Amino acid sequence: MIYRPRRLRRTPGIRALVRENRIHLERLIQPLFVVERDVDAGPIDSMPGILRLTVDQAVAEAVALSKLGIRGVLLFGIPAHKDATATSNYDPDGVVQRAIRAIKQAAPQTTVVADLCNCEYTDHGHCGIVDEYGLIDNDASVELLVKTALTYAAAGVDIIAPSDMMDGRVLALRNALDEDGHSNLAIMAYSAKYASAFYGPFREAAGSTPQFGDRRTYQMDPGNAREALREIALDIDEGADIVMVKPGLAYLDIVRAARDAFDVPIAVYNVSGEYSMLKAASANGWLDGDRAIDETLDSFARAGADIIITYFAKEYAARNAR
Ligand code: PBG
Repeated sequence: MIYRPRRLRRTPGIRALVRENRIHLERLIQPLFVVERDVDAGPIDSMPGILRLTVDQAVAEAVALSKLGIRGVLLFGIPAHKDATATSNYDPDGVVQRAIRAIKQAAPQTTVVADLCNCEYTDHGHCGIVDEYGLIDNDASVELLVKTALTYAAAGVDIIAPSDMMDGRVLALRNALDEDGHSNLAIMAYSAKYASAFYGPFREAAGSTPQFGDRRTYQMDPGNAREALREIALDIDEGADIVMVKPGLAYLDIVRAARDAFDVPIAVYNVSGEYSMLKAASANGWLDGDRAIDETLDSFARAGADIIITYFAKEYAARNAR
């Protein structure tokens, strides 16, 4: 007698009964680009359907998302002013700080996560301070991040997400937040973040392309897997509450390995290039966009991610509205 797996695929009802993984809207996070100057608002060529928003528009978007069941947003700021030491990043009245306050006021149930990095705020586009030799000064960069994080905390952010890949930043952030009375503020660390070509559209969106060199001295080498587990272990030791693997699709092995090795919540970032590829192919009629989105999100759930950060969150929720 042969076993017949097709018995359990016979009807939609049976398939639903035996489905192993499901996408939960409450585990999706929608990234939002927030601009300081109104003139910078508007569409992003390489990311059809995604807009740069003013603070007011970001508030409206957070409210709209929450009505659709998406209760988490990840904020990226696009400041009016960039300089060598990212001064507008730690302005208490900077764009992200204002967006945090406004969103928490209008949509208190929304979990506001703030990406913490310097690259959108530096004129050279690197994630840290550049020293006189053109190298990234790790510890000076961490000091800046700490300074900025305290202003995000004061604005009422729910989770801080350092994405810079400087060494020791999670510990420095944890200590500084605790000392400043924010021991309950969670840290979601971009722990295994690779030096990836898939961030291309994001850099257009945020105007954060490095003006010289690249990010390979701080982001991870795509050939490495064991090192990702080491990076994650370090961040957990330093106090990270949630760890992240980024990008998503080309790094599903890392998501799975992290799931098997650690018991903290794991986030995966379905990055800008992954969004753009799919949008471009579906715009050309080369694949069915809706099904490809579903399949992409399924791959993250299957690999073991708890939290999925994706530019598709709103679209997915709108299509699956109950
Ligand atoms: C900031 C940051 C980047 C992304 C998230 N945070 C850009 C980068 O590291 O170059 C990429 C997100 C995406 O591509 O969607 N350091």
